[in-house]
Amino acid sequence: MKLNFSVNKTNDGSIGLYNKEVDDIYHSTYGAYNEAVDKFINPSGLESFLQTHNKIKILDICSGMGYNLKAAVDTVFRVNPDCCIEIDCLEIDSYVFSFGLLYKVAQIDYDVHYFLLEKFWDNSVVSECMVELLENDEICQFLDEKLALFFVENKLSEIELMGKCQNNQKIHNIYYKYMSNRNKYTPKSRLKFSKNRLRVFFDDARTSIKHLEGRYDFIFHDGFTPAKQSVLWSYEFFNELKRIISSSGNITTYSSSAPVRAALIQNGFHVSKISSENRKTSGTFASLSKEFSQIPLSDEEIGLLKTRAGIVYHDEGLVQNHDEIIKRREEEVKNSSLASSSSYLKSFKNKNKDILK
Ligand SMILES: C[S@@+](CC[C@H](N)C(=O)[O-])C[C@H]1O[C@@H](n2cnc3c(N)ncnc32)[C@H](O)[C@@H]1O
Repeated sequence: MKLNFSVNKTNDGSIGLYNKEVDDIYHSTYGAYNEAVDKFINPSGLESFLQTHNKIKILDICSGMGYNLKAAVDTVFRVNPDCCIEIDCLEIDSYVFSFGLLYKVAQIDYDVHYFLLEKFWDNSVVSECMVELLENDEICQFLDEKLALFFVENKLSEIELMGKCQNNQKIHNIYYKYMSNRNKYTPKSRLKFSKNRLRVFFDDARTSIKHLEGRYDFIFHDGFTPAKQSVLWSYEFFNELKRIISSSGNITTYSSSAPVRAALIQNGFHVSKISSENRKTSGTFASLSKEFSQIPLSDEEIGLLKTRAGIVYHDEGLVQNHDEIIKRREEEVKNSSLASSSSYLKSFKNKNKDILK
Protein backbone atom coordinates (compact mmCIF):
# COMPACT_ATOMS: atom_id res chain seq x y z
CA MET A 1 0.00 0.00 0.00
CA LYS A 2 1.43 3.34 -1.05
CA LEU A 3 -0.13 6.27 0.74
CA ASN A 4 0.38 9.63 -0.93
CA PHE A 5 -0.63 11.68 2.05
CA SER A 6 0.37 12.63 5.56
CA VAL A 7 -2.07 13.55 8.31
CA ASN A 8 -2.31 16.71 10.41
CA LYS A 9 -4.88 18.32 12.71
CA THR A 10 -6.86 21.32 11.47
CA ASN A 11 -8.22 24.13 13.65
CA ASP A 12 -11.74 22.73 14.09
CA GLY A 13 -10.36 19.46 15.47
CA SER A 14 -10.91 17.43 12.29
CA ILE A 15 -7.92 15.99 10.50
CA GLY A 16 -6.50 17.29 7.25
CA LEU A 17 -4.16 15.73 4.71
CA TYR A 18 -1.16 16.89 2.76
CA ASN A 19 -0.14 15.36 -0.57
CA LYS A 20 3.60 14.98 -0.96
CA GLU A 21 3.58 14.48 -4.74
CA VAL A 22 1.38 17.45 -5.61
CA ASP A 23 2.79 19.48 -2.70
CA ASP A 24 -0.71 20.64 -1.79
CA ILE A 25 -3.07 20.38 1.14
CA TYR A 26 -6.41 18.58 0.86
CA HIS A 27 -8.06 20.68 3.53
CA SER A 28 -7.82 24.21 4.78
CA THR A 29 -5.96 24.64 8.06
CA TYR A 30 -8.91 26.62 9.45
CA GLY A 31 -10.87 23.37 9.54
CA ALA A 32 -11.50 20.46 7.19
CA TYR A 33 -15.08 20.06 8.37
CA ASN A 34 -15.77 23.81 8.60
CA GLU A 35 -14.50 24.24 5.07
CA ALA A 36 -16.99 21.65 3.79
CA VAL A 37 -19.85 23.51 5.46
CA ASP A 38 -18.74 27.07 4.65
CA LYS A 39 -17.43 26.59 1.12
CA PHE A 40 -19.74 23.90 -0.20
CA ILE A 41 -22.86 23.00 1.78
CA ASN A 42 -24.09 26.42 2.92
CA PRO A 43 -23.40 28.38 -0.27
CA SER A 44 -24.93 25.62 -2.43
CA GLY A 45 -28.34 26.23 -0.86
CA LEU A 46 -28.72 22.50 -0.19
CA GLU A 47 -30.74 23.03 2.97
CA SER A 48 -33.45 25.18 1.40
CA PHE A 49 -33.60 22.86 -1.65
CA LEU A 50 -34.32 19.94 0.67
CA GLN A 51 -37.26 21.75 2.19
CA THR A 52 -39.12 21.59 -1.12
CA HIS A 53 -37.70 18.51 -2.89
CA ASN A 54 -37.92 14.78 -2.20
CA LYS A 55 -35.28 13.76 -4.71
CA ILE A 56 -31.75 15.06 -5.02
CA LYS A 57 -28.75 14.30 -7.22
CA ILE A 58 -25.27 15.34 -6.13
CA LEU A 59 -21.88 15.05 -7.81
CA ASP A 60 -18.92 15.18 -5.43
CA ILE A 61 -15.78 15.80 -7.49
CA CYS A 62 -12.56 14.96 -5.65
CA SER A 63 -14.29 13.37 -2.70
CA GLY A 64 -11.07 12.77 -0.78
CA MET A 65 -11.96 11.79 2.79
CA GLY A 66 -15.58 12.68 2.09
CA TYR A 67 -16.04 15.78 4.24
CA ASN A 68 -18.33 17.36 1.64
CA LEU A 69 -20.13 14.06 1.17
CA LYS A 70 -20.67 13.59 4.91
CA ALA A 71 -21.78 17.17 5.45
CA ALA A 72 -24.26 16.81 2.55
CA VAL A 73 -25.74 13.54 3.86
CA ASP A 74 -25.86 15.03 7.34
CA THR A 75 -27.93 17.91 5.94
CA VAL A 76 -30.32 15.48 4.22
CA PHE A 77 -30.76 13.46 7.44
CA ARG A 78 -31.49 16.62 9.43
CA VAL A 79 -33.69 18.49 6.97
CA ASN A 80 -35.55 15.88 4.93
CA PRO A 81 -34.75 12.27 5.86
CA ASP A 82 -37.39 11.03 3.40
CA CYS A 83 -35.57 12.58 0.48
CA CYS A 84 -34.27 10.04 -2.02
CA ILE A 85 -30.60 10.71 -2.67
CA GLU A 86 -28.33 9.90 -5.56
CA ILE A 87 -24.69 10.78 -5.02
CA ASP A 88 -21.78 10.10 -7.34
CA CYS A 89 -18.27 10.52 -5.97
CA LEU A 90 -15.25 10.97 -8.23
CA GLU A 91 -11.92 10.26 -6.55
CA ILE A 92 -8.66 8.95 -7.94
CA ASP A 93 -7.29 7.58 -4.66
CA SER A 94 -9.24 4.67 -3.20
CA TYR A 95 -7.17 4.69 0.02
CA VAL A 96 -8.01 8.26 0.91
CA PHE A 97 -11.73 7.64 0.29
CA SER A 98 -11.75 4.42 2.34
CA PHE A 99 -9.78 6.13 5.10
CA GLY A 100 -12.50 8.80 5.22
CA LEU A 101 -15.21 6.17 5.64
CA LEU A 102 -13.52 4.83 8.77
CA TYR A 103 -12.79 8.27 10.18
CA LYS A 104 -15.40 9.88 12.44
CA VAL A 105 -16.05 13.58 11.96
CA ALA A 106 -16.82 14.74 15.51
CA GLN A 107 -19.44 17.25 14.35
CA ILE A 108 -21.38 14.61 12.39
CA ASP A 109 -23.56 11.92 13.94
CA TYR A 110 -22.68 8.23 13.78
CA ASP A 111 -25.79 7.47 11.74
CA VAL A 112 -24.36 9.35 8.77
CA HIS A 113 -21.12 7.40 9.05
CA TYR A 114 -22.84 4.04 9.37
CA PHE A 115 -25.06 4.86 6.43
CA LEU A 116 -22.08 5.73 4.22
CA LEU A 117 -20.09 2.71 5.34
CA GLU A 118 -22.97 0.42 4.43
CA LYS A 119 -23.48 2.10 1.10
CA PHE A 120 -19.86 1.77 0.06
CA TRP A 121 -18.45 -1.38 1.64
CA ASP A 122 -19.96 -3.61 -1.03
CA ASN A 123 -17.51 -1.96 -3.38
CA SER A 124 -14.68 -4.52 -3.34
CA VAL A 125 -11.99 -1.86 -3.84
CA VAL A 126 -13.25 0.01 -0.78
CA SER A 127 -13.38 -3.04 1.46
CA GLU A 128 -9.93 -4.23 0.40
CA CYS A 129 -8.45 -0.78 1.03
CA MET A 130 -10.08 -0.75 4.46
CA VAL A 131 -8.46 -4.03 5.37
CA GLU A 132 -5.07 -2.64 4.38
CA LEU A 133 -5.68 0.58 6.31
CA LEU A 134 -6.61 -1.37 9.41
CA GLU A 135 -3.25 -3.10 9.16
CA ASN A 136 -1.35 0.17 9.02
CA ASP A 137 -0.29 1.44 12.46
CA GLU A 138 0.26 4.99 11.28
CA ILE A 139 -3.29 5.22 9.92
CA CYS A 140 -5.01 3.01 12.47
CA GLN A 141 -4.59 5.63 15.21
CA PHE A 142 -6.94 7.96 13.29
CA LEU A 143 -9.65 5.39 12.61
CA ASP A 144 -12.78 5.36 14.68
CA GLU A 145 -13.10 2.21 16.73
CA LYS A 146 -16.87 1.89 16.41
CA LEU A 147 -16.73 2.31 12.66
CA ALA A 148 -13.86 -0.15 12.37
CA LEU A 149 -15.75 -2.67 14.48
CA PHE A 150 -18.92 -2.18 12.46
CA PHE A 151 -16.96 -2.87 9.28
CA VAL A 152 -15.12 -5.85 10.72
CA GLU A 153 -18.27 -7.45 12.05
CA ASN A 154 -20.20 -7.07 8.83
CA LYS A 155 -17.52 -7.56 6.21
CA LEU A 156 -14.67 -9.56 7.64
CA SER A 157 -16.96 -12.36 8.60
CA GLU A 158 -17.41 -12.88 4.89
CA ILE A 159 -15.27 -15.90 4.15
CA GLU A 160 -13.48 -14.43 1.18
CA LEU A 161 -12.19 -11.40 3.08
CA MET A 162 -11.47 -13.31 6.25
CA GLY A 163 -9.22 -15.63 4.23
CA LYS A 164 -7.17 -12.66 3.12
CA CYS A 165 -6.71 -11.49 6.70
CA GLN A 166 -6.10 -14.81 8.35
CA ASN A 167 -2.68 -13.81 9.54
CA ASN A 168 -3.64 -10.33 10.52
CA GLN A 169 -3.56 -10.16 14.27
CA LYS A 170 -4.88 -6.62 14.47
CA ILE A 171 -8.02 -7.39 12.49
CA HIS A 172 -8.62 -10.52 14.55
CA ASN A 173 -8.26 -8.46 17.70
CA ILE A 174 -10.75 -5.91 16.43
CA TYR A 175 -13.09 -8.69 15.45
CA TYR A 176 -12.98 -10.41 18.85
CA LYS A 177 -13.22 -7.10 20.64
CA TYR A 178 -16.33 -6.45 18.61
CA MET A 179 -17.81 -9.80 19.64
CA SER A 180 -17.40 -8.89 23.30
CA ASN A 181 -18.85 -5.40 22.80
CA ARG A 182 -21.53 -6.48 20.43
CA ASN A 183 -24.49 -4.89 22.12
CA LYS A 184 -22.83 -1.56 22.66
CA TYR A 185 -22.26 -0.92 19.00
CA THR A 186 -25.59 -1.34 17.30
CA PRO A 187 -26.24 1.69 15.13
CA LYS A 188 -29.62 3.34 15.54
CA SER A 189 -31.04 3.49 12.07
CA ARG A 190 -28.66 1.87 9.69
CA LEU A 191 -31.29 0.20 7.55
CA LYS A 192 -33.11 3.39 6.73
CA PHE A 193 -32.74 5.06 3.35
CA SER A 194 -32.22 1.82 1.44
CA LYS A 195 -33.65 3.30 -1.75
CA ASN A 196 -30.77 5.70 -2.15
CA ARG A 197 -27.99 5.25 -4.70
CA LEU A 198 -24.43 6.17 -3.84
CA ARG A 199 -21.53 5.34 -6.12
CA VAL A 200 -17.82 6.00 -6.17
CA PHE A 201 -15.66 6.02 -9.31
CA PHE A 202 -11.97 5.47 -8.61
CA ASP A 203 -10.35 7.01 -11.63
CA ASP A 204 -9.27 10.32 -13.06
CA ALA A 205 -12.44 12.42 -12.78
CA ARG A 206 -11.97 13.39 -16.44
CA THR A 207 -12.51 9.75 -17.42
CA SER A 208 -15.33 9.02 -14.97
CA ILE A 209 -17.30 12.09 -15.90
CA LYS A 210 -17.70 10.90 -19.47
CA HIS A 211 -19.86 8.02 -18.18
CA LEU A 212 -22.19 10.21 -16.15
CA GLU A 213 -25.58 11.39 -17.27
CA GLY A 214 -27.41 14.46 -15.91
CA ARG A 215 -29.15 16.18 -14.23
CA TYR A 216 -27.20 16.99 -11.07
CA ASP A 217 -28.69 19.52 -8.66
CA PHE A 218 -25.42 20.13 -6.83
CA ILE A 219 -21.83 19.75 -7.93
CA PHE A 220 -19.04 20.15 -5.38
CA HIS A 221 -15.68 20.73 -7.03
CA ASP A 222 -12.82 20.28 -4.59
CA GLY A 223 -9.78 19.57 -6.76
CA PHE A 224 -6.26 20.48 -5.77
CA THR A 225 -5.43 24.11 -6.44
CA PRO A 226 -5.40 24.87 -10.21
CA ALA A 227 -1.83 26.18 -10.20
CA LYS A 228 -0.61 22.81 -8.85
CA GLN A 229 -3.04 20.52 -10.65
CA SER A 230 -4.78 22.19 -13.55
CA VAL A 231 -6.35 19.06 -15.09
CA LEU A 232 -9.77 19.45 -13.47
CA TRP A 233 -10.11 23.18 -14.09
CA SER A 234 -10.02 23.42 -17.87
CA TYR A 235 -12.59 24.92 -20.22
CA GLU A 236 -13.23 21.38 -21.51
CA PHE A 237 -13.81 19.89 -18.06
CA PHE A 238 -16.34 22.61 -17.23
CA ASN A 239 -17.99 21.85 -20.55
CA GLU A 240 -18.62 18.32 -19.22
CA LEU A 241 -20.13 19.81 -16.06
CA LYS A 242 -22.40 21.92 -18.22
CA ARG A 243 -23.59 18.75 -19.98
CA ILE A 244 -24.70 17.08 -16.75
CA ILE A 245 -25.87 19.89 -14.49
CA SER A 246 -29.58 20.67 -14.15
CA SER A 247 -30.79 24.04 -15.40
CA SER A 248 -31.28 25.21 -11.81
CA GLY A 249 -28.26 23.33 -10.41
CA ASN A 250 -25.07 24.86 -9.13
CA ILE A 251 -21.35 24.25 -8.83
CA THR A 252 -19.57 25.34 -5.68
CA THR A 253 -15.82 25.47 -5.24
CA TYR A 254 -13.34 27.03 -2.85
CA SER A 255 -11.30 28.30 -5.82
CA SER A 256 -11.44 31.97 -6.77
CA SER A 257 -8.84 31.65 -9.49
CA ALA A 258 -9.32 33.88 -12.55
CA PRO A 259 -8.78 31.14 -15.19
CA VAL A 260 -11.37 29.00 -13.39
CA ARG A 261 -13.99 31.73 -13.26
CA ALA A 262 -13.27 32.72 -16.86
CA ALA A 263 -13.62 29.11 -18.07
CA LEU A 264 -17.00 28.82 -16.32
CA ILE A 265 -18.19 32.09 -17.90
CA GLN A 266 -17.02 30.99 -21.36
CA ASN A 267 -19.14 27.86 -20.89
CA GLY A 268 -22.23 29.96 -20.26
CA PHE A 269 -22.32 29.79 -16.46
CA HIS A 270 -23.29 32.78 -14.37
CA VAL A 271 -20.46 33.22 -11.92
CA SER A 272 -20.73 34.76 -8.49
CA LYS A 273 -18.87 34.23 -5.25
CA ILE A 274 -19.73 32.47 -2.04
CA SER A 275 -18.42 35.02 0.42
CA SER A 276 -17.40 38.63 0.43
CA GLU A 277 -13.96 37.78 1.83
CA ASN A 278 -10.93 39.03 -0.06
CA ARG A 279 -10.41 38.29 -3.75
CA LYS A 280 -8.29 35.21 -3.14
CA THR A 281 -10.55 33.38 -0.69
CA SER A 282 -14.08 34.24 -1.76
CA GLY A 283 -14.74 30.94 -3.56
CA THR A 284 -16.92 30.54 -6.63
CA PHE A 285 -20.56 29.69 -7.27
CA ALA A 286 -21.71 28.91 -10.81
CA SER A 287 -25.14 28.21 -12.24
CA LEU A 288 -26.67 28.22 -15.71
CA SER A 289 -29.54 30.32 -14.33
CA LYS A 290 -28.81 33.87 -13.31
CA GLU A 291 -31.56 33.89 -10.69
CA PHE A 292 -29.53 31.61 -8.42
CA SER A 293 -26.47 33.85 -8.33
CA GLN A 294 -24.92 34.62 -4.97
CA ILE A 295 -22.66 37.56 -4.10
CA PRO A 296 -21.78 39.40 -7.33
CA LEU A 297 -18.12 39.63 -8.36
CA SER A 298 -16.67 43.05 -7.62
CA ASP A 299 -15.65 45.42 -10.44
CA GLU A 300 -12.04 44.58 -9.66
CA GLU A 301 -12.69 40.83 -9.99
CA ILE A 302 -14.63 41.25 -13.23
CA GLY A 303 -11.88 43.43 -14.66
CA LEU A 304 -9.26 40.87 -13.71
CA LEU A 305 -10.97 38.22 -15.84
CA LYS A 306 -10.34 40.43 -18.89
CA THR A 307 -6.59 40.50 -18.28
CA ARG A 308 -4.01 37.78 -18.98
CA ALA A 309 -4.94 36.30 -15.58
CA GLY A 310 -8.28 35.29 -17.13
CA ILE A 311 -6.72 33.16 -19.87
CA VAL A 312 -8.24 29.73 -19.34
CA TYR A 313 -6.66 26.27 -19.11
CA HIS A 314 -7.29 24.09 -22.14
CA ASP A 315 -7.29 20.30 -22.25
CA GLU A 316 -8.79 19.05 -25.54
CA GLY A 317 -9.97 15.48 -25.21
CA LEU A 318 -9.41 15.70 -21.43
CA VAL A 319 -6.15 13.76 -21.65
CA GLN A 320 -3.27 16.18 -21.16
CA ASN A 321 -1.11 16.28 -18.08
CA HIS A 322 -0.66 19.27 -15.78
CA ASP A 323 2.66 20.37 -17.31
CA GLU A 324 1.27 20.29 -20.85
CA ILE A 325 -1.76 22.33 -19.82
CA ILE A 326 0.37 24.90 -17.98
CA LYS A 327 2.86 25.15 -20.84
CA ARG A 328 0.12 25.83 -23.36
CA ARG A 329 -1.41 28.51 -21.13
CA GLU A 330 1.99 30.13 -20.55
CA GLU A 331 2.46 30.36 -24.33
CA GLU A 332 -0.93 32.02 -24.67
CA VAL A 333 -0.15 34.44 -21.86
CA LYS A 334 3.20 35.31 -23.46
CA ASN A 335 1.63 36.04 -26.84
CA SER A 336 -1.41 37.82 -25.49
CA SER A 337 -2.10 41.52 -26.11
CA LEU A 338 -4.21 41.70 -22.94
CA ALA A 339 -3.05 43.75 -19.96
CA SER A 340 -1.13 41.93 -17.25
CA SER A 341 -2.97 41.40 -13.98
CA SER A 342 -0.41 43.42 -12.02
CA SER A 343 -0.70 46.50 -14.23
CA TYR A 344 -4.48 46.19 -14.20
CA LEU A 345 -4.64 45.92 -10.40
CA LYS A 346 -2.29 48.87 -10.01
CA SER A 347 -4.33 51.12 -12.28
CA PHE A 348 -7.59 49.90 -10.70
CA LYS A 349 -6.28 50.88 -7.28
CA ASN A 350 -5.11 54.28 -8.53
CA LYS A 351 -8.44 55.00 -10.19
CA ASN A 352 -10.39 53.98 -7.09
CA LYS A 353 -8.00 55.50 -4.55
CA ASP A 354 -10.60 57.82 -3.09
CA ILE A 355 -13.34 55.18 -2.92
CA LEU A 356 -11.03 52.54 -1.41
CA LYS A 357 -9.87 54.85 1.39
C1 LIG B 1 -8.36 19.04 -2.13
S1 LIG B 1 -8.56 17.31 -1.98
C2 LIG B 1 -10.29 17.15 -1.72
C3 LIG B 1 -10.69 16.91 -0.29
C4 LIG B 1 -12.04 16.28 -0.14
N1 LIG B 1 -13.13 16.96 -0.74
C5 LIG B 1 -12.36 15.84 1.29
O1 LIG B 1 -13.50 16.06 1.73
O2 LIG B 1 -11.51 15.26 1.92
C6 LIG B 1 -8.39 16.80 -3.66
C7 LIG B 1 -8.73 15.36 -3.93
O3 LIG B 1 -8.73 15.16 -5.33
C8 LIG B 1 -8.22 13.88 -5.64
N2 LIG B 1 -7.77 13.94 -7.05
C9 LIG B 1 -6.64 14.51 -7.52
N3 LIG B 1 -6.61 14.42 -8.85
C10 LIG B 1 -7.74 13.81 -9.23
C11 LIG B 1 -8.27 13.45 -10.50
N4 LIG B 1 -7.64 13.73 -11.64
N5 LIG B 1 -9.46 12.80 -10.52
C12 LIG B 1 -10.13 12.53 -9.36
N6 LIG B 1 -9.66 12.85 -8.15
C13 LIG B 1 -8.49 13.49 -8.08
C14 LIG B 1 -7.13 13.68 -4.61
O4 LIG B 1 -6.84 12.32 -4.40
C15 LIG B 1 -7.74 14.35 -3.38
O5 LIG B 1 -8.41 13.42 -2.60
